[in-house]
Amino acid sequence: MGMEKIFNTDKRIRLGIWGLGRGGSFIKAAKELNIDVVAGCDFNDEIRERFHKDCPDAMVTADENEFLSYDMDAVLVATFFTAHADHAIKALEAGFHVMSEVTSFFTPADGVRLVEAVEKSGKIYNLLENYPFTKENMYLAKLWKDGFFGEFQYGEFDYLHECRSLCYRHCILPDFPPVEPGYTVHSWRSWLDFHYYCTHSLGPVMQITGLRPERITALPEKVALPGYLPGSGMAKPCPSLIQMSNGGVMRNLCGATCGDYHMAKRIWGTRAAAESLDGNLKLSLGAAGNSMRTPVQPEWPELADIAETAGHGGGDFWELYYFARQILTGEKAPWDIYSASDVTLAGIMATRSYENGGTPMEIPDFRKPEVREKYRNDYGCMKKPFDPAKIFPDGHDVSKTSVFTSLISKMEEHSVVLRKALDGARVYSQIKDGAVKLEVIQNLNKSLNDLPELFAERASAKELISLYPESPAAFALSGMLTLAEPEALNGEDVLKQKLNDFVNDLLK
Ligand SMILES: NC(=O)c1ccc[n+]([C@@H]2O[C@H](COP(=O)([O-])OP(=O)(O)OC[C@H]3O[C@@H](n4cnc5c(N)ncnc54)[C@H](O)[C@@H]3O)[C@@H](O)[C@H]2O)c1
Repeated sequence: MGMEKIFNTDKRIRLGIWGLGRGGSFIKAAKELNIDVVAGCDFNDEIRERFHKDCPDAMVTADENEFLSYDMDAVLVATFFTAHADHAIKALEAGFHVMSEVTSFFTPADGVRLVEAVEKSGKIYNLLENYPFTKENMYLAKLWKDGFFGEFQYGEFDYLHECRSLCYRHCILPDFPPVEPGYTVHSWRSWLDFHYYCTHSLGPVMQITGLRPERITALPEKVALPGYLPGSGMAKPCPSLIQMSNGGVMRNLCGATCGDYHMAKRIWGTRAAAESLDGNLKLSLGAAGNSMRTPVQPEWPELADIAETAGHGGGDFWELYYFARQILTGEKAPWDIYSASDVTLAGIMATRSYENGGTPMEIPDFRKPEVREKYRNDYGCMKKPFDPAKIFPDGHDVSKTSVFTSLISKMEEHSVVLRKALDGARVYSQIKDGAVKLEVIQNLNKSLNDLPELFAERASAKELISLYPESPAAFALSGMLTLAEPEALNGEDVLKQKLNDFVNDLLK
């Protein structure tokens, strides 16, 4: 597709990507637009090598100062979750337009600094919140703008994404290798409270309706999934209720559960409603309870052919498109620093609400300088429940503890298969879907093969737990031992027999 077809100019944007994990996934979409990826920066050697293969002509370095002194127009920040404000400010001060991955900042004080850095720089700042730009959400946004739904009354949006394995693995590298060194865990995915990651479900409601979130309340969820580190905020569902600026209310559900929904939604206006749990959008028409309900095929509002080929259901493409459009034509992109602050602050205030037993919290409007004053020195954030670099006690024996991330990763993989196999067999005759029945049988067979490994892993885990019983690592291993309990079936041979019986019975 010729570049001129998207923007009526030959002008190019020289982009540097800072953080080449998630950051590297924008290279493809950039090629479709007037964007040349000319530089990349990451500490990680393997990730830099991968970037070099994708962009052989680009400069690549581990040194952020060298990166920021390169000849570029814009920087895409996709570094650690808690560092985005510092890095965005540094890039703005170096004279670049900035796109930042979610979320914009980690504390209100970081937010005030960032807003003021954007204002002072006169540069363009966009948040890379991609979920509003799926085909379904863009279609709903267009209808909403046309008045089709009337006034926003209520909505329920989910971004449930169980990321246990990502506490122990590098999700960006091929085949997801365990975190190195093996006695440490992922620097933020292992502990972050999921309320902070609220943007994929609140973001779409803001962009569809054009409303801002004003108040939020969240109750403390006290039941965690097993196999996470102690106190990990990633181990639980994080629901909150949010009052929007027109007086309507939404239930924002992010977090981790058994049985995730990445983009389930139900949204009601005063004239019409929409719902989609699994990518099948339905509309309710007729402005009454006994409405006419119908599935519909959503359409892209613009540039359909190109968007269809982009990643993340089109979202990554649209984020870059709007950013490039603002640089090239001046037309404003959806996520400026102020709406980015609204969505980021909702997550921060949700954590404060549940820490205060569910007390509703105002979501401050950083458009107003007088409101910012109250938060200028507010560096309050969740306390890390443990140090990801110190999950064993000081002086631990690295010859024993270095296996931790590979051991727990394998245990998880094998335990999940066994759980699927045994529970699938339990309800086998009631399963309606033939493909799922086949999956049950495959899992049973796989479990049979995996059993010796799983038992060996469980023995190693018990040994490591007994060496350092009070450590965060022992807590995670003990939880992982409960995920599937082959011992409860009276030993390896009995379990083998039982699985064989299941398979034979099911194949009858
Ligand atoms: N919108 C989405 O759908 C989506 C999807 C995945 C990740 N994300 C966001 O993108 C961000 C990055 O995600 P990830 O999975 O790649 O995270 P990650 O923490 O695994 O990787 C961050 C990368 O940045 C590098 N880095 C950090 N600080 C650096 C510095 N000062 N100089 C050089 N390199 C530095 C690290 O080496 C690492 O490779 C996160 O904030 C995450 O929330 C968004």
